[in-house]
Amino acid sequence: MAEWKKVGVVGCGLMGSGIVEVAARSGFDVVVREATRELLDKGLGKVKKSMDTGVEKGKLKPEERDAASRRIRGTLDLGDFRDCDVVIEAITEDPKAKREVHAALDAIVKPEAVFASNTSSISITEMATATKRPERFIGLHFFNPVPVMKLLEIVRGLRTSDETVALSKAFGEKLGKVSILAKDTPGFIVNRLLVPYLLSAIRAYEQGLGTKEDIDRGMTLGCAHPMGPLTLSDFVGLDTALFIADVMFDEYRTPEYAAPPLLRRMVAAGFTGRKSGRGFYDWSSGQPK
Ligand code: 3HC
Repeated sequence: MAEWKKVGVVGCGLMGSGIVEVAARSGFDVVVREATRELLDKGLGKVKKSMDTGVEKGKLKPEERDAASRRIRGTLDLGDFRDCDVVIEAITEDPKAKREVHAALDAIVKPEAVFASNTSSISITEMATATKRPERFIGLHFFNPVPVMKLLEIVRGLRTSDETVALSKAFGEKLGKVSILAKDTPGFIVNRLLVPYLLSAIRAYEQGLGTKEDIDRGMTLGCAHPMGPLTLSDFVGLDTALFIADVMFDEYRTPEYAAPPLLRRMVAAGFTGRKSGRGFYDWSSGQPK
């Protein structure tokens, strides 16, 4: 079983940039691709800012940051993934776009490489059919903020091989993460539990059970959650929460996965949470108000 040395990341948004940072800091050579120069510069800027903060806070030595930075290469060309040992796709939750990326990569990347998707809910088994390597296709679901959250959810598709699972576990360990193994079912383990909880909180707010602040306080102070459910929904992205809920409702058809009307309308209005500056809270300063 060959050890992974070079990691490819497709997409340098919120999740992709976190994966790039963690992999480079863990000693992997990383190549990251974005669709445009502007998006690539923005994504690499996020990695740099996060590592600079790490240095300022004394969590990272300046020479460690510099060595990690040297291991990261940005590109606009999927051709640069040719000799990667694993390629992690972290683009938007669009099944068609994901299939296209995996199919294009399949023709480029060395046949023994593993393909992974950071999807939060799309079927790994189905996505793998876009490639000729379904046994080397797996879900590697990271959590936001990637450098902080300790979990790696490994999702095994119906055709994923034992070797791919073992390599993925070893990779997670090298990244300093603790991994859990989930079946390829909608929402996997974490979102299967988390999303109905977030939807319930939105429903509670919609039905006037309490103010948003009190609903959030109930869970932060009453249950020691680091964020209340409405703040967390904004943090995850209301569009992302809605997308996951719709995927789960589509398959299970049970009420706990049905998106509350308020959520759908807020997304339609562009109030997607922290990323747009407005969700249940005003995030224009970077913090919920
Ligand atoms: N990058 C690196 N470090 C970060 C960071 C980031 N983006 N954000 C926060 N941190 C670090 C801070 O530097 C700080 O470190 P220190 O304690 O050593 O100084 C530590 O995390 C705590 O941060 P803060 O003091 O700024 O603020 P908080 O104590 O409020 O913590 C939080 C922020 C870690 C985001 C915390 O609120 C939290 O854990 N929230 C819940 C996050 C969560 O549930 N994420 C999962 C979402 S679900 C998901 O991703 C799956 C998807 O499929 C939907």
